[in-house]
Parts: sequence; C-alpha cells; structure tokens
Amino acid sequence: MEIIKQGAEAKIYLIEFNGRKAIVKQRFKKKYRHPQLDDQLTPRRVLQEARCLQKLPVLVPQLYLVDLPNNTIYMEYIDGITVRDHIVNGHADLKYIGKSIGKQLATIHDSDIVHGDLTSSNILLKDSELVWIDFGLSYVSNLPEDKGVDIYVLERALLSTHPKEAEELVIAF
Ligand SMILES: Nc1ncnc2c1ncn2[C@@H]1O[C@H](COP(=O)(O)OP(=O)(O)OP(=O)(O)O)[C@@H](O)[C@H]1O
Ligand SMILES: [Mg+2]
Repeated sequence: MEIIKQGAEAKIYLIEFNGRKAIVKQRFKKKYRHPQLDDQLTPRRVLQEARCLQKLPVLVPQLYLVDLPNNTIYMEYIDGITVRDHIVNGHADLKYIGKSIGKQLATIHDSDIVHGDLTSSNILLKDSELVWIDFGLSYVSNLPEDKGVDIYVLERALLSTHPKEAEELVIAF
C-alpha cells in the first residue's frame, strides 16, 4: 500500500479496490489520549465520517467499505487537488472558490450537518467542482450557533493558511 499522507488522526493510503483507485483512511491510536477514551472516540469518528459520505447533499468521495474493527474507511480516490494547494499554487479564481464554498456549505448546513473541521485542506477541487472530505468531527445540529462556529473556524483557517487571499475568499463566501 502506498502511503500518501500521514495526518494528525489518520494514515491515508492509495490502493486499487475492485479495479478502481481508492483511498484507505486508517485512524490510529493517539498516544496522549487515555486508551479507554480513545476506544470510544475513534470508532465514533469512523462511523460519523462514513455516514456523511452516504448522506451529504454535496459532492463527496463514494464510500466503498467500512472496516470498523480496524478503524478504517475505504473510499473513492478523488483525482484532484486540495483547495489549499490550488490557492498556494497561485490560482486566481478566488471569487469562484469562495462563492462555491459558501453556497455548498449553506446546503450542508441546511441539512443540519456541521462539518466540525473546515479548512482549505478538507475541500478538494476536481474539474472545477468542490469535493468535501474529512467528516470525522462532524455532527448533527440545527443550531445556528453551531453552524456559525463552523464558518468561524473556516474563516480563521483561511486567514492563517492564506493571509493574502483570505479577504477576497471570505467576501465571496
Ligand atoms: N478521497 C480522497 N481522494 C483524494 N485525496 C484524499 C482523499 N481523502 C483524503 N485525501 C488527501 O489526504 C489528506 C488527508 O485526508 P483527511 O483530511 O481525510 O485526513 P486527516 O486530515 O488526517 O484527518 P483528521 O482530521 O482526522 O486528522 C487530504 O487533505 C487530501 O490531500
Ligand atoms: Mg484533513
């Protein structure tokens, strides 16, 4: 298995699954977290992510398989780029990107899902379409305050990751 990313919570591998490129996302144990707490949190995040991949009203990778005993999800590989890398590479379509994120996050929030970890690394771009990922911290809520926090987290993330581009992105959003 080719490892393509070692994140804070999970290892991401690229494999072939039934003849198609697939992503394997395996959540690992956190050494700093109490083992019993870890045993409760990790499967919950795996399940929450899998649920979102099945029910979100925006583009997400197709869910292939959940291997709960191994805290692992198999999903469609998106042959694209993170919004982060797209912006860092100097692409100038900031208005289009900010506006698309705004419209689609409204759709997500209207279905009472709060993403919980919105950054420009957790949204991919493929053929100018957004594909949303990384739903392990998402939850169901109809509270405007929770949806507002989602937006606030995204704004802070954009400001720290893209200090020069953040204002234009946020205005378009
Ligand atoms: N389905 C996918 N297709 C293509 N690339 C992906 C896919 N899923 C993840 N990636 C790549 O792997 C990176 C990390 O994935 P993800 O955000 O799901 O994990 P993470 O950040 O480790 O999760 P956590 O929030 O639990 O720490 C993404 O930023 C993206 O570059
Ligand atoms: Mg991520």
